[in-house]
Amino acid sequence: MKILMVCLGNICRSPLAEGVLAKKALKAGLNWQIDSAGTNGFHIGQPPHHFSQQVAMQNGIDISKQKSRLFTADDFDNYDKIYAMADEVVHEMKYIAKNKFDVCKVDLLMNELHPGGNKDINDPWYGSEDVYYQVYQLIDAACEALVNKMKVIQLNN
Ligand code: 4NP
Repeated sequence: MKILMVCLGNICRSPLAEGVLAKKALKAGLNWQIDSAGTNGFHIGQPPHHFSQQVAMQNGIDISKQKSRLFTADDFDNYDKIYAMADEVVHEMKYIAKNKFDVCKVDLLMNELHPGGNKDINDPWYGSEDVYYQVYQLIDAACEALVNKMKVIQLNN
């Protein structure tokens, strides 16, 4: 299973989502490949925001080696599931992917925690340190729900 996490800059939310899900999947024995990308390309090649790195590190996750990359239409060929951090990200993905956009592969990450709730994980870019901790809690809870769901599905197969 190949999973892509997508936000706008790929420096605040989706690098955290990549790191958190990778750790949880490994612990659960799920052979998943997880990556992340951003739709705006403003920070290509840069490591995650220092507050994202900090909150990850405090939870035993090193995301410092990640580098921001642009989301592309080809990501729909290369990934089984693509999670957007917010609805505006889905809109940007549609604009970038055009006819390659595959609605079956895309969901908001928060729908794993609250199915059908269509809640965003808001962009923390202009926020203070504590906003990054709130973002981490949401991402952690959603990724926990996703891994637990997949463990049940695997057990039943
Ligand atoms: P992210 O946050 O989408 O969670 O990485 C942002 C980072 C940078 C910008 C926007 C959102 N920006 O416009 O530069």
